[in-house]
Amino acid sequence: MRSNVSLLVLFVLAALSVRWHGIVQGANILCIMTVPSPSHHIWNRVIMEELVNRGHNLTVVSQDGDKSRTNLTYIMLERVYSTLYEEEGMDLLEMSKETPFQSLFSFKEFYLGMCRGALKSDGLQVILNYPDSFPFDLVLYDFGCGPCLLPLLHKFNYPPLVSLTAFSNPPYSVDIVGGHKHYAYTPHFALPYSFDMSFAERAYNTYLCLWDAGLRMFDVMPKLDAMVRERFAFENLPYIQDIERRTVLMLVNTNPTFDAPEPLAPNVIPIGGAHIKSPEPLPNDLEQFVAKAKKGAVLFSLGSNIRSDTIGEERQRMFIEAFRQMPDYHFLWKFESQLNIPLPPNVIIRPWLPQNNILNHPRTKGFITHSGGLSTQEASWFGVPLIGMPFFVDQHRNFKRSLIGGVAEGLDFATLTTEKIRTTVMKVLETPIYRENMQRRAAYFRDQPDKPLDRAIWWIEYVVRHPTVQHLRSPTLMLGTIKANLLDVYLFFVAVIICIISLPVVIVRRTLCRRQRQEKKKRQ
Ligand SMILES: *[C@@H]1O[C@H](CO)[C@@H](O)[C@H](O)[C@H]1NC(C)=O
Ligand SMILES: *[C@@H]1O[C@H](CO)[C@@H](O)[C@H](O)[C@H]1NC(C)=O
Repeated sequence: MRSNVSLLVLFVLAALSVRWHGIVQGANILCIMTVPSPSHHIWNRVIMEELVNRGHNLTVVSQDGDKSRTNLTYIMLERVYSTLYEEEGMDLLEMSKETPFQSLFSFKEFYLGMCRGALKSDGLQVILNYPDSFPFDLVLYDFGCGPCLLPLLHKFNYPPLVSLTAFSNPPYSVDIVGGHKHYAYTPHFALPYSFDMSFAERAYNTYLCLWDAGLRMFDVMPKLDAMVRERFAFENLPYIQDIERRTVLMLVNTNPTFDAPEPLAPNVIPIGGAHIKSPEPLPNDLEQFVAKAKKGAVLFSLGSNIRSDTIGEERQRMFIEAFRQMPDYHFLWKFESQLNIPLPPNVIIRPWLPQNNILNHPRTKGFITHSGGLSTQEASWFGVPLIGMPFFVDQHRNFKRSLIGGVAEGLDFATLTTEKIRTTVMKVLETPIYRENMQRRAAYFRDQPDKPLDRAIWWIEYVVRHPTVQHLRSPTLMLGTIKANLLDVYLFFVAVIICIISLPVVIVRRTLCRRQRQEKKKRQ
């Protein structure tokens, strides 16, 4: 019996050691994180930090960055933000007034402007000065803003490419990994449609998605390709989009709890919620402020792209006045600078707030939000109902989904009044159904076999273990648009049907003709 037990222990140990050998240690990873948006960096950063914690060495080329730490080295693209916002005068609040169709063109400018800034940056020279033989085991690439810096893959002799995005699963992901984007039930991110679209909505969605794809294929990509070809001057550099298509694995920030229930290729891994950290207690002052509230606390944040101090003093006064009229609730407002309006005792402002931890607090009853993807996910994870005030890009869509899900009510930024703010906030706070719906959403979102962040890391390490993995790729990449969508087959079927239908007509006509001719002959 005893020897049996020790045998078993030995066996388990042996099995474990085999497993440990399977786990990769100390990979050198190059991260190309070129989406100029602090919130995208926050999301990427969580994954990068976790890779460092697991013993990997990361070199990050990015326009956003915190301080470097051991095994997390930032190489800054210092000209990207200044190129976009100072030299090229991009204005996010102005962009919020655009139609979905116009926004496609602003997006294009954003892509190209980002690339112009990156190519001008001194940081780029730093990574170019690395020897070509530097042993990168993997490249992690945020594909949200295009393949401007993917020639680096060529320089380092094509380590396996893992693409990822915080931007849910955008329509252009199929250009990279193949598979299908069904316009019938996946609305474009600029459209506030549900998955159940009317005929007109499906028609407009298809129109917009086709424009978007066409613009990328025929305009953005050729321009990017020309720009990078000039800057890098590498010999035999393939077409820039073909480098992007070498992607062996894609990580997308989605979860069917609130995103389109769409089929994904086996190498597309949904990791929605990966950035949500285990909550910690609030700092003392915030804890007391929340505890003192009679009925509970409300968080107010417009995210990292739209600053609360740029929405205008008139609107700031409306919010403060509305909050003053709800003394039973305490409001925590993320406000980036000084506010020259006196605050009532139930409002505090801070340039930064621990959003995750506040949303996790049992006394937090509502969240006034711009409806950004990450904020919506965090609120969904912690079950806090929303008061949405969307501005641009995907925010209208996220808000619409929250509205349909019965977890939110909305404020229109252009027509704000104190009264509207007060009644909308009160409605969400004091009608239990919003919270109940959100709690159910949270239960679905959190109940998963593994943590989204662990899943992300497992798959990245999978690619390190199997750098040449090909069998997970979608065959549509090889088939091309026509074959992948069976357009040739449908066309053939239509042709056959037309033949079958028209055959009797032809025969009848022929016989008629013949008869007429015979009659004519008889008369002659
Ligand atoms: C840093 O990365 C190297 C591999 O490149 C690894 O061997 C080392 O343990 C890592 N150091 C830390 C502190 O994680
Ligand atoms: C870790 O990455 C840094 C930054 O790229 C690099 O200088 C260093 O040589 C790497 N360490 C190892 C052990 O490869």
